[in-house]
Amino acid sequence: MKLKGKNILLGITGGIAAYKAAILVRLLVKEGAEVKVVMTKLAKEFITPLTMATLSKNPILVEFFDPENGQWNSHVDLGSWSDLFVIAPATANSMGKMAHAVADNLLITTYLSAKCPVMIAPAMDLDMFKHPANLKNIETLKSYGNIIIEPDSGELASGLSGKGRMAEPEAITEKVIEFFTSKKKLKSKKILVTAGPTFEPIDPVRFIGNYSSGKMGFAIAEELANLGAEVILVAGPTNLEISNSLITRINIQTAQEMYDVSVKHFPDCDGAIMSAAVADYKPAVQFDKKVKRSNAEMQIVFEPNKDIAAELGRIKKKNQVLVGFALETNDEFENAKKKIKNKNLDFIVLNSLKDEGAGFGHNTNKISIIDKQDSTFKFDLKPKKEVATDIIEVLISKLKK
Ligand code: CTP
Repeated sequence: MKLKGKNILLGITGGIAAYKAAILVRLLVKEGAEVKVVMTKLAKEFITPLTMATLSKNPILVEFFDPENGQWNSHVDLGSWSDLFVIAPATANSMGKMAHAVADNLLITTYLSAKCPVMIAPAMDLDMFKHPANLKNIETLKSYGNIIIEPDSGELASGLSGKGRMAEPEAITEKVIEFFTSKKKLKSKKILVTAGPTFEPIDPVRFIGNYSSGKMGFAIAEELANLGAEVILVAGPTNLEISNSLITRINIQTAQEMYDVSVKHFPDCDGAIMSAAVADYKPAVQFDKKVKRSNAEMQIVFEPNKDIAAELGRIKKKNQVLVGFALETNDEFENAKKKIKNKNLDFIVLNSLKDEGAGFGHNTNKISIIDKQDSTFKFDLKPKKEVATDIIEVLISKLKK
């Protein structure tokens, strides 16, 4: 009974996958959840309210009011009753309405007034799914902090085969359980994350930078928030987007700005993960005006930037955990261990440029973690999201001490 005491509101929209909602309700109820169901009118054509009412043990809500007696179905009450709103299946039409606040049925008004987290399981034909309009709506919903349960690939009701089939009820139930259980792990913890490159200006139109994409740091911030942590994400210039009500993103450009923001916020945090590729040097002089081309040789003098991780290591209190990264090309372990000492880190995440698929720009990474007690953990090449989970597991073990 992993969902005992949880109030789950299930929203069903009008797609063929609505029949799977019956199994989903049964699984949620079996885990001890209290389930209420709100359906769109079209959803009733695919699965009957009687089936859903019987399985959920609660009357089904479709209309704004009961036509028999005029009793008002309050979308505000429904939204505040639920600990989680799961919309499965979510059609392209309903997701479009959710993304753009087209509040023409009870399900959408409930969505718009819900204060609880929302999980959405899209279901539609493959071409509809991959249409840019639909993908844009999904991105918009993600930007509102909604959790999208990716559809599966496989045979579709149309007879075509591709991505668009709603995730199986068992998989959705698993996600729901994961949401409630894992969320607690970092609840009431606050973690600072630095991510991306820094750009050091030469003149108003030029800078010195590096190839860091920020993907690793953003994946870490996202996973931390998924586990319930409050995150201060200090982000260098990157095209990445992130949205989660637990993440406060502070954009910076230079190492000095990253230093100022990090030093300001670190004292209130339980830990920091320094995944940014901070420029070690900046031009000693910045030109106010664009430097004009000439045939003469040009020299730029660089001066060192401050070491942010080392400063946090200096001001670190006993109960704070500081995590660094090391991207090395040679003598990896030796160099990484030196950094643990010099920056007073609790552990360091080492990636080597020698490993294919690791480091800048890739969606994957291959890391080793070395802690200050000199224990080493080696991991396989995996997606950055999973790498983030591995790093956070070690962070959690250190936070407990
Ligand atoms: N770091 C930092 N501030 C800097 C430089 C690095 O906070 N000015 C952090 C990085 O975010 C990383 C760790 O320190 O977590 C190690 O970064 P790295 O560039 O590998 O180390 P450096 O100390 O710069 O050493 P080197 O470049 O000589 O290897």
